[in-house]
Amino acid sequence: MSAFWTWYIILLVVINVVGCAALLWWTSKRRPGEPETTGHVWDGDIREYNKPLPKWWINLFWLTIIFSIAYLAWYPGLGSFKGYGDWTSNAEHDAQREANEAKLKPLFAKFAETPLPQLAQNEEARRLGQSIFANHCATCHGSDARGAKGFPNLTDGLWQWGGEPEQILATILDGRQAAMPPFAAVLGSDEAVNEVAVYVQSLSGQRVDPTLAAAGKPRFETICAACHGRDGTGMTALGAPNLTDAEWLYGSDFDSIRTAIVNGRNGQMPAHEPIIGAERVRVVAAYVYHLNQTATGKTAQP
Ligand code: HEC
Ligand code: HEC
Repeated sequence: MSAFWTWYIILLVVINVVGCAALLWWTSKRRPGEPETTGHVWDGDIREYNKPLPKWWINLFWLTIIFSIAYLAWYPGLGSFKGYGDWTSNAEHDAQREANEAKLKPLFAKFAETPLPQLAQNEEARRLGQSIFANHCATCHGSDARGAKGFPNLTDGLWQWGGEPEQILATILDGRQAAMPPFAAVLGSDEAVNEVAVYVQSLSGQRVDPTLAAAGKPRFETICAACHGRDGTGMTALGAPNLTDAEWLYGSDFDSIRTAIVNGRNGQMPAHEPIIGAERVRVVAAYVYHLNQTATGKTAQP
């Protein structure tokens, strides 16, 4: 804080405190020459007297002023003056976080030994996982983990990068970088792009023009099959999604599919080991695994 603002704040605070004290002193007694009553009369004979506040009440006000001065001496409140108590909100936050970490440490140690599917059955782990998810994952995947356009639904039992416990763990620890390159140039013409897009639509059972789809099929099988598989069911090792199911990351309509082909798609799941540490990743992975098991009606095999 610059010296100007420091003095600006100190001045404001001091003027306020001194102002309160002056006001209190001024109103605490009746001065000679002041009228005995205010002149207000009700019901013919009830007069309003002009009396100061009771002594005990005034003294309470003095106490609050003394308290405020002591408070401002102990805590930081006067510009950049740190206060004699050396208190900072950061230090308090750090201390609380450390205490919390110390409390969680034995818990994480226990969880680190437990296989993931079993961990997913542990209610305490799931509760912790849920709070980690709310803090670190919900911004992208939604608080219900159902995702949004470009951010996968994590509850549907369909996995772009694999749904085995170890695969989910790897996804969260190290992140994933999807690499679908643009294919407009390879396909050569707008027409070819459209035909492939229509063929992709047909893969998931959408009603399309069969001649366009038939023209797109061989192109798909030569160019796209390398990653999405000949039948379009995808490849988890590359993160190439299954194009035959009803679940779409970017949309199943013609335009979305065409955009994927023309511009490519490069979804990125950030690596979370550097952000939240391996212990928390493990617990949140168990939570995601469980979400998925409950949503799809399967139960984990411990
Ligand atoms: C090099 C591997 C590779 C090739 C070849 C490839 N893709 Fe992809 N494709 C991917 C990956 C990886 C993704 C996931 C992108 C993401 O998650 O951002 C993807 C995503 C898509 C999507 C979006 C799916 C969704 O759920 O929204 C469509 C549509 C698609 N590809 C169609 C095609 C078509 C058509 C071709 C051939 C012209 C093709 N891809 C060729 C790797 C590939
Ligand atoms: C900055 C946004 C972002 C955050 C934060 C984020 N993710 Fe993701 N996540 C993504 C995107 C985007 C993808 C899809 C990547 C792709 O296109 O292949 C993804 C993919 C995934 C997948 C793979 C899904 C599949 O079908 O294989 C899992 C599992 C996952 N995230 C879990 C998590 C968890 C757990 C957290 C919190 C620790 C998290 N994510 C935080 C953006 C995010």
